[in-house]
Amino acid sequence: PSPGWTTRADVVIVGSGIAGLTAALRLRKEVGKVLVVTKDVLAAGSTQWAQGGIAAALGDGDTPEEHELDTLVAGAGACDLDSVRILVNEGPEAVRELIALGTNFDHTADGELSLTREGGHHRDRIAHAGGDATGAEIQRALIAAVQAAPDIEVIQHALAVDLLLGEDSSGATGVAGLTLHVIGEGERDGVGAVLCRAVVLASGGFGQVFSQTTNPAVSTGDGMALALRAGATVRDLEFVQFHPTVMYLGPDSRGQQPLISEAVRGEGAFLVDDDGNRFMQGVHELADLAPRDVVAKAIMKRMLDTGRPHMWLDARHLGAEFWERRFPTILATARSHGVDPVVDLIPVAPACHYVSGGVHTDLDGRSDLPGLYASGEVACSGVHGANRLASNSLLDGLVFSRRIAKVLPGELGEWREPSADERAPGLIAGAARKELQETMTSRAGVLRSAAGLTAGADVLAGLAGRVATAVDQESWETSNLLTIATALTMTARLRQETRGSHWREDFAERDDDLYAGHFDVRMADGAV
Ligand code: SIN
Repeated sequence: PSPGWTTRADVVIVGSGIAGLTAALRLRKEVGKVLVVTKDVLAAGSTQWAQGGIAAALGDGDTPEEHELDTLVAGAGACDLDSVRILVNEGPEAVRELIALGTNFDHTADGELSLTREGGHHRDRIAHAGGDATGAEIQRALIAAVQAAPDIEVIQHALAVDLLLGEDSSGATGVAGLTLHVIGEGERDGVGAVLCRAVVLASGGFGQVFSQTTNPAVSTGDGMALALRAGATVRDLEFVQFHPTVMYLGPDSRGQQPLISEAVRGEGAFLVDDDGNRFMQGVHELADLAPRDVVAKAIMKRMLDTGRPHMWLDARHLGAEFWERRFPTILATARSHGVDPVVDLIPVAPACHYVSGGVHTDLDGRSDLPGLYASGEVACSGVHGANRLASNSLLDGLVFSRRIAKVLPGELGEWREPSADERAPGLIAGAARKELQETMTSRAGVLRSAAGLTAGADVLAGLAGRVATAVDQESWETSNLLTIATALTMTARLRQETRGSHWREDFAERDDDLYAGHFDVRMADGAV
């Protein structure tokens, strides 16, 4: 539909988690008008839900080089070394800046920053806040800073629909604006357009493509899908991480599921099967603290071998006082579901958690479409490779948004006149979402095979015919999920090996000789 209203901003930032608000705060004095658009309220994205913390070499004796090594090992040979070096070297200063901004991280009795450990780390290097509410504290501090900055405009309840493209005076095509679907923001209600000179995508991931995920409801891959439709490249989509310890709420539970942070294992909890066997011992030198993909696979294997729908996390020995102080959020959530971790084993199973791939960017967050930048989970600069190291995600958004803010002001081009939009995607009915999620979970989830992926692709092709009768948020989101699901299934079929979080039953080993590098996805004539 044509826009019912139009406004202007020099830079539009899509998303309001750590990546989006960091970019806004750093760009606000550099580029004229900065506008943040967010699909729900400012705090609704994934940052708010992060538990374990943010990783950086801040502890005595730790070094960026050691952080680099752990990141590369977790990434299973698919990381970009230059990106990883930026992440680990700029990380400590970026976290110190977050502290200066007012983020209250936890401290030891001696007044030192309290650092914990998670899967794949050989050092205690995870800073945390409120025990297990790190993301909520970071989000609070960032929102407070944005609200104290009157030069940042915010539009909430605004779904980013599509990029507007146009030519500059040299004839080069790039970003000219963004269309939005706004629900109930005064005069801006309905579909409108923001004309702008650059867009920073910070819109997070797409966990809702699967039936069970730790991601909030807003994680529907909107940023990746709109980047694809505009002609940008999306990379490494098959590397979707399944968090090993997500609380199992029964076979019919759908949508966002409660995360049991890796930090609980970092503090001494361990996995057991129905018979009490500690099955991680002997699987990896780090046992229960092996990298995330190793633990998720061991749990799945045990579930398949025993025919059980979940395994158990035993953290009873941590005791009530420790649980209340260190993991108050997880404790309250588990108790609200009738499980008391102080006396009960916690039922856990892997669920979709994080996509390591995304909009392909260079070391300064530039996509291959002029004027389009990306940071955080929506982006793929290569820092995570085939499997993100625990607690590197908040750091990724923080570090790469700082870098975007350094280069973007010097690169802002002239205003482009939007050309007529010929993309006009057919919208998919929101009612198709459940079948899409079930198909992705059973065919392209934690365990994949050629036969399953082919069957899944057939179902997705059928869903493309379920045309929406209404143009609303549900149908936009379902269409975005279908675009992502189709691209993911395609690259998962192409990658004929097991690597990091991509696990093929029919190609069960990592194959460095046949390693195909990255799979880049683009869209042409409305198809990936
Ligand atoms: C967790 O707390 O286990 C999640 C941390 C992460 O995703 O890096």
